[in-house]
Amino acid sequence: MQIQHLVRIHGREILNHEHMRIERECYQHGVVTTFAHSIRVACLAVWIADRLHLWHRVDLRSLIRAALLHDYFLYDWHEWDDGVHRMHGFTHGGTAMRNAMRDFRLNRVERDSIENHMFPLTPCPPRYIEGYLVTVADKISATQETLSLDRFNKPALDNPESGK
Ligand SMILES: [Fe+2]
Ligand SMILES: [Fe+2]
Repeated sequence: MQIQHLVRIHGREILNHEHMRIERECYQHGVVTTFAHSIRVACLAVWIADRLHLWHRVDLRSLIRAALLHDYFLYDWHEWDDGVHRMHGFTHGGTAMRNAMRDFRLNRVERDSIENHMFPLTPCPPRYIEGYLVTVADKISATQETLSLDRFNKPALDNPESGK
């Protein structure tokens, strides 16, 4: 089965949630929105698990849901503000986990994988293999997105609320 199809099936509840609108309106790296980044991370995490033949050890649904929610912090971390988001790299895993717990019923694998996905920047490593897959897939995706030349042709986001 196609990876995108698996992500769509297991991630349906998350992808359809109204707060995903916020992720569609915030750039994460370069020209990639947080929404698109999260889908990339989910697809890549599944691909890595497949390549490493980890299916007897990985819960596919938890892996996909954790990957889709790993950056569910729901603000634009590039926006200048009073400094609340200055510690973004260190704090957003916890913020994403709390937001996700408010909006969805998460199991412990999903919670831990979201909260600790910034390891080794943050001190606690993930406790489950799903968390390591999200962490690795996130680092690879973030690097690709940040280095992409597309960022120099960044289109304006259609976001009337931002006032820009
Ligand atoms: Fe993140
Ligand atoms: Fe990320």
